[in-house]
Amino acid sequence: MNNPAVGHRSAILHSLADPDVVGIENAYQYFADGLLIIKDGLITHLGDAKALLQQYPALEVITHHNKLIVPGFIDTHIHYPQTGVIASYGEQLLDWLENYTFPAEAAFSDPQHCRDTADFFLQELLKNGTTTALVFGTVHKTSVSAFFDAALQLNLRMIAGKVMMDRNAPDNLKDTAQSSYDDSKALIETYHQKKRLSYAVTPRFAPTSSEQQLAVAGQLLKEYPELYLHTHLSENHQEIAWVAELFPERTNYLDVYDHYQLVTDRSIFAHSIHLCDSECERLAQANSAIAFCPTSNTFLGSGLFNLSQMQQHKVQVALGTDIGGGTSFSMLQTMQEAYKVCQLRSAQISPFKAFYLATLAGAQALKLEDKIGNLQPGTEADFAVLDLAATPLIEYRLKSAQGIEEQLFVLMMLGDDRAIDSTYSFGNCVYSKSAP
Ligand code: GUN
Ligand code: ZN
Repeated sequence: MNNPAVGHRSAILHSLADPDVVGIENAYQYFADGLLIIKDGLITHLGDAKALLQQYPALEVITHHNKLIVPGFIDTHIHYPQTGVIASYGEQLLDWLENYTFPAEAAFSDPQHCRDTADFFLQELLKNGTTTALVFGTVHKTSVSAFFDAALQLNLRMIAGKVMMDRNAPDNLKDTAQSSYDDSKALIETYHQKKRLSYAVTPRFAPTSSEQQLAVAGQLLKEYPELYLHTHLSENHQEIAWVAELFPERTNYLDVYDHYQLVTDRSIFAHSIHLCDSECERLAQANSAIAFCPTSNTFLGSGLFNLSQMQQHKVQVALGTDIGGGTSFSMLQTMQEAYKVCQLRSAQISPFKAFYLATLAGAQALKLEDKIGNLQPGTEADFAVLDLAATPLIEYRLKSAQGIEEQLFVLMMLGDDRAIDSTYSFGNCVYSKSAP
């Protein structure tokens, strides 16, 4: 690779740290007229456009008018096979799984259905400015190979895993402890750390795995370096009561996973709404992360995530859409719903905090902050170009916005896929609103 460098000129914003830890003024960098220089997929420079162009007068420059460049969004919990059950009416978690989700997931025994859904799903992510996601497949090995093959074609940074589920599920969706080990291992051997892909060991949640299967999940984590553990935790009261019945010897829900060595610094627990303080302490101690999925939590009536509790305990939190329990692929919409959930708990998340949760916090949760999540030189050139005139209302409202903080708040309240002008992955344009 020795392609010429390319500059992108625009307003540019990225997070440097958690604003609740370092203070807002130290938490971000903003260039009203910025330049991002990219070579061979990596960011080489970020700074003020005029200053950088004096140093590199011959640089090829793409100018984005009335736009805002931000790091690609990072969705830390999503189910690609549930793309087709988004917006299914009227149930809470356990009935929703039985009535909508499991029937839809059964169709992923067909490789063509897997390929078609993976392609559509990735286009939706990119259309929403999401460049990295931590993704559930189904129990079928082919669901994950189809997903990874599609991500490889676009050279995306993606993490996924095959669902492990050997009990309390329909027969056509059950594996066994042994087959889940064999299938996961085969996928790991083929895809883990291939280009920008990584594998996540993915037991669905404690109720659908036998003790043998949870032990197998722990064994896989020991056998391979840098695997992730991706599962659900403490989402719904009925679910939590069920876990207590199934695992009476464990002190709480997290302790079930802990018993099988599944609570590590590469573990991501979706939801985690109803945790006790000792569970929070354990998550902080292990440096595990929570995927806060606000549109799913309100849609399924699961509850109001307690961000303040997690901050008190210094537990890492990032954002997830949880499609198809969630109602939007858009991380802007997810930021909006996170704001509303916190309001209902009498807490405010600032626009910079919401933006941090959707970008750098996701990278930190995935231990990828040296590669993605902000626009520091040396990182991978994954970014989204937001359109500051995406809709007449956004354009009208932004006329009276006083600065980047207010602009950002307007974008997260009023923005969705229409606010994404284009998306770049490893320096390549992988989505453009204006493309036919
Ligand atoms: N818990 C176990 N499986 C699922 C799932 O598919 N979606 C959600 N939201 N929660 C789960
Ligand atoms: Zn989920």
